[in-house]
Amino acid sequence: MIRSVVRGIGSALPRRIMKNADFEGIVETSDEWIAQRTGIRQRHIAGDDETTASLGADAARAALSNAGLTPDDIDLVLVATSTPDNTFPATAVDIQNRLGIRHGFAFDMQAVCSGFIYAITTADLYIKGGLATRVLVIGAETFSRILDWTDRGTCVLFGDGSGALVLEAVESQATLADRGIVAASLRSDGTHKDKLFVDGGPGTTGTVGHLRMEGREVFKHAVGMITDVIEDVFAKAGITADDLDWFVPHQANKRIIDASARKLGIAEEKVVTTVQLHGNTSAASVPLALSVAVADGRIKKGDLVLLEAMGGGFTWGAVLVRW
Ligand code: UT7
Repeated sequence: MIRSVVRGIGSALPRRIMKNADFEGIVETSDEWIAQRTGIRQRHIAGDDETTASLGADAARAALSNAGLTPDDIDLVLVATSTPDNTFPATAVDIQNRLGIRHGFAFDMQAVCSGFIYAITTADLYIKGGLATRVLVIGAETFSRILDWTDRGTCVLFGDGSGALVLEAVESQATLADRGIVAASLRSDGTHKDKLFVDGGPGTTGTVGHLRMEGREVFKHAVGMITDVIEDVFAKAGITADDLDWFVPHQANKRIIDASARKLGIAEEKVVTTVQLHGNTSAASVPLALSVAVADGRIKKGDLVLLEAMGGGFTWGAVLVRW
């Protein structure tokens, strides 16, 4: 059988770091409120020369270097983003070009904060279906460009950045002990559209629009939805929380991360939390958190790693990977 195995990982962050205190002159807020309610202490904000494609391409180069591969080895570039540089063509095609890849194909996926979970699952199916051998799966965002900088309920929460994985087809017995993507679960429910959305777009206003969120409402649903897909993945893989080495959740709010881990019985020391460094980077948050935990030596080859995200739509999903 074919398994989609992680061969490399990389990330890229904008140069500029914005601390919580830097918001104090912009909206009525405080470092204390942001840190206590969300766990966020800082986020990176893209400069004029930093775009979703430039950040995505930098993360992809880092992942290729980590994998010991060149752009020629890649036949699919899959980009999860809700902040594409243009309405079309896809940011993935721009990144493919920036990397100098002249074969294969590239496209974007849009599932907001769950984008990377949807993309890694999609890449896995393209690999298993024989349409791709090595895939760059990238989460890249410049959410700072769609924020309403007068709305304290949202502008303090998000940041910019990118993370990328190289997934590779490998012949495998495909047991739980074998490396690669073991199981996944995806969900969406459009009845929650108005709780987290952008109030513009090409088909409606003809403008880009700004992010709008009823934070408390999103919070109310988050833990239940997250635990629902994770329990589904546990059942598919025949494991319990005790079998996990690492839990790498979407980084929106430390209180959501802690409550989800508690409800699932995942030990605190297995939880990777980077929300304090990056804020909520939407589709980039999971690969950015993975990058940090791989770089500092926590996540090692053979570890069982659970990824999860939930966001606008609502969309939500989980993926289990033998690293
Ligand atoms: O990635 C996609 C998924 N998104 C999420 O997971 C986000 C989910 N939601 C959240 O993380 C939280 O709901 C927030 C962090 C957005 C808000 O935290 P909360 O504990 O739910 O606060 P709240 O919305 O209930 O607001 C409490 C108070 C309000 O004032 P009143 O009405 O009690 O007087 C807000 O106006 O805090 C006020 N507030 C602020 N105060 C200082 C809201 N934003 C701020 C702010 N600084 N930045």
